Amino acid sequence: MRPRAREIVARGGVLVIAHRGASADAPENTLRAFRLGLEAGADLVELDTRHSADDVPMVFHDKDLGRTTDAVSVWGKGKLRFEERTQAELERLDAGSWFDPRYAAGTIHIPTLAQALDVIQPEGTTLIERKTGDAATLLTLLEERGAVERVVVQAFDWPFLAACRARSPKLVLAALGSRALPPARLEEAVAAGASVMGWNHKHVNAALVRRVHERGLKLWVYTVNDDRRALELVALGVDGLITDRPAGIRQALQRATK
Ligand code: G3P
Ligand code: CA
Repeated sequence: MRPRAREIVARGGVLVIAHRGASADAPENTLRAFRLGLEAGADLVELDTRHSADDVPMVFHDKDLGRTTDAVSVWGKGKLRFEERTQAELERLDAGSWFDPRYAAGTIHIPTLAQALDVIQPEGTTLIERKTGDAATLLTLLEERGAVERVVVQAFDWPFLAACRARSPKLVLAALGSRALPPARLEEAVAAGASVMGWNHKHVNAALVRRVHERGLKLWVYTVNDDRRALELVALGVDGLITDRPAGIRQALQRATK
């Protein structure tokens, strides 16, 4: 049985987290990218979830469909809002060709959250970033799969984290943010139930790391794709690196400790 999420979070050393899967090597937020993230040995595999028009939790980053699908050629430029499309409509889109022609049209699709969990959870741990959707729907899906204690849920929307915490005392929560982190803001994250802060690496410095650790939380940073910057952040004391290049960043960490 794989360890619980809280045990993974509590591990010493630096966690390597595959951002939208191994998204430097495969189309982001697709089953292909998640499998590559697992093959890279990522400690967690991050994804973004938002609800379709018929309220199905799907896996997709942007509000609009234009950047990472063929929606413009299917529906035209004016009809790209993710939330206005049903699961069936979204599943018909090609979510791979934009990334590389070798992902032939029609072979890579937008997954549901359930499909993504089916791929990631048997071998790994999912870091679910909620973009849209309610806490009750997410918790019900996790409860049905026995996954409440085996994933981490993160969001920029901290009242959403508080709603998750109200529903489940065992779910591990990460509070996302960028820019400065004054003490009062850190207390808001603690009050919402977070045990991890997920911060934009550009705004991370020694004082921020110290403040988070003194409050008893872990600090993960996004999105770190440069080896040298990763090592700087490790020297500052961060606990996790969220990266599009999990294999490369892990190699850089291993080289540095030899
Ligand atoms: O894991 C944190 C990071 O994913 C937040 O930013 O825009 O990539 O979802 P974004
Ligand atoms: Ca994300």
